[in-house]
Amino acid sequence: QVAAASGHTVVLVDQSEEILKKSTKGIEESLKRVTKKKFADKPEAGAEFIEKTLKNLTTSTDAVAVVHSTDLVIEAIVENQEIKNELFKRLDKFAPEHTIFASNTSSLQITQLANSTTRQDRFGGLHFFNPVPMMKLVEVIKTPMTSQKTFESLVDFSKAVGKSPVSCKDTPGFIVNRLLVPYMMEAVRLFERGDASKEDIDVAMKLGAGYPMGPFELLDYVGLDTSKYIIDGWHSLEPNNPLFAPSPLLNKLVQEKKLGKKTGEGFYKYN
Ligand code: 3HC
Repeated sequence: QVAAASGHTVVLVDQSEEILKKSTKGIEESLKRVTKKKFADKPEAGAEFIEKTLKNLTTSTDAVAVVHSTDLVIEAIVENQEIKNELFKRLDKFAPEHTIFASNTSSLQITQLANSTTRQDRFGGLHFFNPVPMMKLVEVIKTPMTSQKTFESLVDFSKAVGKSPVSCKDTPGFIVNRLLVPYMMEAVRLFERGDASKEDIDVAMKLGAGYPMGPFELLDYVGLDTSKYIIDGWHSLEPNNPLFAPSPLLNKLVQEKKLGKKTGEGFYKYN
C-alpha cells in the first residue's frame, strides 16, 4: 500500500485469489482512512489519489512469474525459516541479477535467509511496523554480506515510501522488537504473578508512560501467534536469558487459537 501510494509499481503476491481479494479490500479501506485526513478539504483529490494508488497495484498468485520484472522483492510470508528459505531459493533462480531481496521478518536472522540465495550482497532486511500506513519507522538491516550499495538502495527506498529509516545490525529483534517484546513479555509475567490486572497494566502504561496502547492491547494487535514465534525463536537461541522465557499464559491462548484482534479474542474480546 505505501509503496503503491508513493508511485511505485507493485505486484502483491499471495497464495490464493481469495486472500488477494481480501488484501486488496483491506488496502482500499486503509487508503480511505489515510485519504480522509490527508485530503480533508479536497475530496476529489482524495478520490484521485486512491484511484492512482490502486492503478499502481496488481496482484498475482505466482511469484516466479512476476519476479523477472522486479527490482525489489519484499517478503512478508509466514515466520518460518524453512518456508522463507524455500521461497527465496526459488525466486533467486528467476530474478534478474540486479534485483534486491529483502525480508520483513520480525525474528529470524536475515543472514540465514540470505544464505538460501546466491545474492547475499543484494540481500537485506526491511522491517515495517503495524499499522504500516501510520508508523513512520523502517528498520533497514545490513548483514555482514549486504553491500553498501544495497544498503543505500534500501534506505533510499524507505525514504521514497515516506518512512524514516534506521540502520540495524542483524541481531535478534533488531532495535524495536529487542526492546518492545521483552517489555510486553514482562507485562504478561506481571499479570501471571497476579501483581496487577491486565486492564490496570494497560492503563498504567498509557497514562504513566504515554504509550498509545498498553502492552496487552498491543500484543492482541500484533497477534499472539506472532509474539509467540518471536519469543520462542529467541528462547531457543538464548535459553538462559530470562527476558526471552516463554509465558504459559501466552502459550495457552495461542493453543486455544485466541490470537488477538484478528481472531476476535486474545487477552481481550473484540466484536
Ligand atoms: N490504515 C490507515 N490508517 C490507520 C490505520 C490503518 N491500518 N490504523 C489506524 N489508522 C489511523 C486512523 O484512521 C486514525 O486516523 P485519524 O487520526 O485521521 O482519525 C489514526 O490512525 C488514529 O487511529 P485511532 O484513532 O483509531 O486510534 P489511535 O489514536 O490509538 O491510533 C495507532 C492507532 C496508530 C495504531 C496507535 O494506537 C499506535 O501507534 N499504537 C501503537 C502501535 C505500535 O506500537 N506498533 C508497533 C507494533 S510492533 C511491530 O509492528 C513489529 C512486528 O515485527 C511485531
